[in-house]
Amino acid sequence: MSTIIQTDNLTYTYSGDEETAATVALDGVTLEIERGSFVVVLGHNGSGKSTLAKTFNAVLLPSGGTVYVDGMDTGDEALLLEIRRRVGMVFQNPDNQIVANVVEEDVAFAPENLGVPTEEIRRRVDDALEAVGMTDFTLHAPHLLSGGQKQRIAIAGVLAMLPECIVLDEATAMLDPIGRREVLNVIEGLHREKDVTVVLITHHMNEAEQADRVIVMNDGRLAMDGTPREVFSRAEELADMGLATPDTIALLRELKAAGVDIPTDAVTVDDCIDAVMNVFAGCAGKAAQEVPPAGGVTFLLPKKTPKNHLNLWFKNPFYCSGRL
Ligand SMILES: Nc1ncnc2c1ncn2[C@@H]1O[C@H](COP(=O)(O)OP(=O)(O)OP(=O)(O)O)[C@@H](O)[C@H]1O
Ligand SMILES: [Mg+2]
Repeated sequence: MSTIIQTDNLTYTYSGDEETAATVALDGVTLEIERGSFVVVLGHNGSGKSTLAKTFNAVLLPSGGTVYVDGMDTGDEALLLEIRRRVGMVFQNPDNQIVANVVEEDVAFAPENLGVPTEEIRRRVDDALEAVGMTDFTLHAPHLLSGGQKQRIAIAGVLAMLPECIVLDEATAMLDPIGRREVLNVIEGLHREKDVTVVLITHHMNEAEQADRVIVMNDGRLAMDGTPREVFSRAEELADMGLATPDTIALLRELKAAGVDIPTDAVTVDDCIDAVMNVFAGCAGKAAQEVPPAGGVTFLLPKKTPKNHLNLWFKNPFYCSGRL
């Protein structure tokens, strides 16, 4: 795999004014993002995630150090268009990203500005809308769509640039669970089927489940960098940085703390179900009725237990008892 984005000792300082002091938002960040990878960036509020993302397509230029996109230094103004074409960004607020009154015009906006020929734009818009599952809405008014649909249009607008990498800065934060799922499905599909590099900034730990890699920012520094399993196995350090673990890991850790001998590194829901089934029934994958009772282990499920965990819970109501 080759590198699509590379930062070398990157620092960024927001200059202050009479009232506010300067803020060092990034402090010596060195990282590489592999082409075709799915990277999730976590970190508490103000840890530098958005600042980092904005340096990836030259919205912000380094105060120190360098950022390369596909080998191009973002500090080189002559390369700005090429850099922005390769790395597209989707932001948190879907309403702020709508630029036209008709979906297809909205998606066509960026390539039109780049001077892409009309027939080519038509093809790109159609392909992009298909990729985000919004073909039926081609002639709709974007502002009347749901939040999730608007974000899918925003993603289509980025796709119409044929980027190699999409950076999503909390793009699901303002969406309801259905909208969030829609957008995540689209992102996961683009990564899986079209080899788009994805950098997903999120506060939702569960969104890191499918990532190849998780980066944790803390006070402008790169605090952790590894597979989801590696990063989430460091639950205490994450807690010290104000971060939770995904519900899967949290559930397994609660079971462990309750005295159940269970591995605590299964990040995905499927792996978590397997781990629990293994321990409580010794027969992962078998139907609940075939599972012999394992006895009255009591544990507490996390308060905001997602539906998947409830499924897991209700699949085995006789083997684990507890309260929600
Ligand atoms: N435009 C700005 N002017 C001055 N300081 C800023 C500006 N934007 C961000 N900062 C400061 O830079 C630091 C990093 O902010 P950044 O927005 O990158 O963090 P973040 O991890 O994205 O936070 P959040 O989770 O709240 O989105 C914070 O201390 C923040 O207050
Ligand atoms: Mg941010």
